[in-house]
Parts: sequence; structure tokens; C-alpha cells
Amino acid sequence: MINHEIVIIGAGLAGMRAAIEASQSADVAILTRLHPMRAHSGAAQGGINAAIDPDDSIESHTFDTVKGSDYLGDQDAIAILTSEAPRDIYEMEHMGTVFSRKDDGRIAQRAFGGQNFNRCCYASDKTGHLLLQTMYEQILKHNIKLYEDWYVTKLVIEDGSVRGVVAYDQISGKLEVVRAKAVIVATGGAGRIYSVTSNAHICTGDGMAIVFRAGIPLRDMEFIQFHPTGLYGQGILVTEGCRGEGGYLTNNDDERFMKKYAPTKMELGPRDLVSRSIWTEIKEGRGIDGKDFVHLDLRHLGKDKILERLPQVHELCLNYIGVDCITQPIPIQPTAHYTMGGIPTDAWGESQAKGLFAAGECACVSVHGANRLGGNSMLETIVFGRRAGVKAAEFVRSVEWQEFPDHAFSSEQKRITEIMERKEGEKPWTIRSELQDVMMMKVGIFRDGKEMSEALQKIVELKNRAKNICVDDKSWLYNTDLVGALELQNLLLLAELITLGALAREESRGAHYRNDFPTRDDEKWLKHTVAFYDEINPRLEYEDVTITTYQPEARKY
Ligand code: FUM
Repeated sequence: MINHEIVIIGAGLAGMRAAIEASQSADVAILTRLHPMRAHSGAAQGGINAAIDPDDSIESHTFDTVKGSDYLGDQDAIAILTSEAPRDIYEMEHMGTVFSRKDDGRIAQRAFGGQNFNRCCYASDKTGHLLLQTMYEQILKHNIKLYEDWYVTKLVIEDGSVRGVVAYDQISGKLEVVRAKAVIVATGGAGRIYSVTSNAHICTGDGMAIVFRAGIPLRDMEFIQFHPTGLYGQGILVTEGCRGEGGYLTNNDDERFMKKYAPTKMELGPRDLVSRSIWTEIKEGRGIDGKDFVHLDLRHLGKDKILERLPQVHELCLNYIGVDCITQPIPIQPTAHYTMGGIPTDAWGESQAKGLFAAGECACVSVHGANRLGGNSMLETIVFGRRAGVKAAEFVRSVEWQEFPDHAFSSEQKRITEIMERKEGEKPWTIRSELQDVMMMKVGIFRDGKEMSEALQKIVELKNRAKNICVDDKSWLYNTDLVGALELQNLLLLAELITLGALAREESRGAHYRNDFPTRDDEKWLKHTVAFYDEINPRLEYEDVTITTYQPEARKY
């Protein structure tokens, strides 16, 4: 058995930031499915928000975030996010992140959606990648133990406190126990529940699902963000930085249609609003050539600006769809991008179970509420990753080692061996693609009760079919077929929660828009959804939202 005081699951920005902090006084290991430089945080292109300009203010960043969240974000947590943002940006800079610069040498900041100030710090359009690089250098510098290609299948909590995890070491082909005093879950989101997504193939919500199965509730799962500009047919992110730099959205009549939906902010409205506007144009027949995409036009920015500020976008468009955005408009469609809900934590990453922490997209602090602002996700990973690392290190100093229960390993071994040994049954990917299609069609940008009830019925059917899945690959070595089967169980679990929460929430708020309940209803629904585990019927309860300074008001842009 392997022992580490703190086990961190996931080597994206949140996981690595937590590890750097915690390793100063504790024995820390990171378990990760991928090499850290392949983490999905690297896909975040456009930037990270912080009020570092003397003409900007923490209050303004806080208010924009609260308003962006459609008042569902907890205002005490948001105030921590925004007030600690400047220190974290400068810390990243001092660790070596190569931010783009203004002519006077200060960190450059660009406009991002739903904000009243150009406060998004960036490194051309590779901000996530450069932050990852900075973190990974620190991981190497601090000699932090990394278990690469380890896929965690189970979180073990006994008598209310964490005992460790069970993980599949893909290289040796063995199931291993890693005993820990504390576990920090930093596994990212679950965009792969949808057929069109900007998320990497690994974003299957595994961290949230293992926590949920271990008996910890999940919060606000119905709020799924669609990023307005995914590359048509691919879903790959085309950064909001394109619009921040002045890009236009146009329909088949070559009209900048955002003037109808967000007359003041135009293309820089918040993501929920811009995605709905694009989808409305498409539904009403003004997609390009009557198809299901519109144009993101950068041509007027000119070659020099595009190549300096948006080189990755230029390359992605050329490589994936053969479009040169210097001379051609980019076909785009909204793409499932971000899971606003997740594992409920306080502002130190602590969950309900002793020794269980979470940070980054899989956590719900909650700073994003019903709709996240672009540029606040990397910020969340750094601020709350650091805080979770501090607190977990403090926690492990205060507790003794506890036994890892044998039955926790044997039951997991049995579950996985049964899948491996089953000779006949459906293939995981057939069920996965049916799930992705139904979620896209019926629990996407526009929702209604009838369609979501149909989706729920379908998910229950798929859950039943998934009990008899069978994998073709019978070798234990690097078995991606097996991992796909385990991911499927997680995707199904979370899809059910998204749909249940969305069906119950009879209002429209942020990214959750219902045609049959098109307005926000603060009287009934200014509250967080909390879902509790049950193999057959998860149960929903509700919790108050923390409102400190800003009373809910109509959200206009
Ligand atoms: O559009 C983007 O560059 C994405 C950033 C984010 O989701 O924060």
C-alpha cells in the first residue's frame, strides 16, 4: 500500500497550485491521468481576470461577477476571489508566467464578456498553457511526487473521514490503494456529457462522480455553460479574446446581430446571453446558408494583430477546418464549456467530509453561480487551489493516520473485474454517444419540461443498459476501453443530476434557460440545488445563497 499525507487528484492548474502550497509542510503526491502539460487547463486561451489597473477596482470585479452569476454566486466567496486575484497574478508573474505586456511594460489586459473594465490578463491566446508551464516548473522544482497515467476510480470515506483512494495504474495494469489523511479533488469539469464541447476527452466529471458515490452531495449541477464560440463541427474553443480584441458576430444577412440582444455590450455580453442569441439566430433561419452556425469575423483586425494576439486561433482554424481567419470569417457554434456546479466547499476548499477538499472546476465554492464570467475560471483554480493547499496541509498536521478499510478495495476490485470479465454486452461508446446526443438536444442551451422529462427517461434507460457493458480489450495494460467504461458510469450519474436539477428548477437563471419558465423567479428559486446520492433516485434539497452587498436586480447588458 502506498501512503501520502495528501493525495491530489488531477494535475491541472488547481491541482498543481494546491500541491505547491501543501508541499511546503506536508508529504504530497499528485495522481493524474495525463502528463500535467496535457491538462485541460491548457485549453483556456483568453486570459485570467484581476483588478490590477489603478482605474479598476475589486468592487467592480466583484459586482460584475455577482451580476454575471445571475445572483446565484455566494457573495462572500466572490469577494475572496476578486480581492486575492491581484496577489495571485503577481505571484504567477514572479514564478515566471510570460504575460503579454503593454507598451509601458505592465501586464496587458483585454476586454472579456460581461465586465465593465478590460481586466483580463493574458499571454496572447495561450494563457492557460503558459500558466500550466509555470506550475509544472514549480512541481519539478519542489520535487513533488507525480503518479502519471493513474486513473482514480474510487474515493474512500469511512465514518465521515477520508481514508484514501483506489486507482488504476494504467502502465502496470494494477489496481492500487493510496492511503491518505487528506484528498484534494481537482479533476475539472464534465463537458463530455455533451456531443458538442470545448472540453478535452478526459473531462468526464470523474472527480465529482467519485465524491458523489462516496456520499457527498453535489451542488448546482444544472448550470452548464455553453461558450458562444466553438469551432463549427469540432466544438474546439475559439477564445472570447477574439471578441475582446474587437471581433464581430454576424449572421447570414451579414448583420451584427448582438445589437438586438445586448445593445450596450454587443459581442461582449455574458456567455449565457451571447450563446442564446447565436442559437436564436440559427433557429430563426439566419444561420450561415441556413445551417447551424454563424460567423465570427476577425478580418478587420488585420494580420499583424491576429498573429500577435490570437496566433493559436489562427492555427486552430487553419488546421481543423482549413479557414484562414486573416482573410475568412470563422464558422462558429456554441459549445458545452464549463460545469458551474460541483463539490460544495467553503472558501478554503473544505467539503463536508473530514479531509476531503476540492478546487477548480469540479468544486462549487460557489463563485460562478448560474453563469461564469470568462476569465474567472483560471482565477478560481489559482486562488482556491492555493487556499485548498494551505488548509489541507494544516489539516494533516492535526490528525492521526487511520486504517484503510479492506472492503473498500475488494468491492472496487470486484466492480472493475466484473466489467473486464463480462463476455457479452453493449459497448460503452454506443451508450455514451446516445447520452451525449440526448443531453445536447434536450438539456442544452434552451430547455423545457417535456423535453427534459424525455431526456431523464432516456438517461434511466441508458443507466440500466450500462449495467451490462462489456469491453473488447481484455488486457489490464493501459486499457482505454476499460477507462471508457468507468467514465461512462460517471457521465451517466452526472447527466442525471443535471437533468433532475434543471427539471425541478422552474425558472430561467444564467445558463439555465427554460422556454416554459422564461423569467427569473427570486422568490422561489434564489437558492442552490443540492443533490444527494441514491443508486436509483438521487434526492434534491435546497440551500440559501449568501448575499452580502448586492441585492438581486434585473440583469441588463
Ligand atoms: O474564451 C476563452 O478564452 C475561455 C476562457 C474561460 O473560459 O475563462
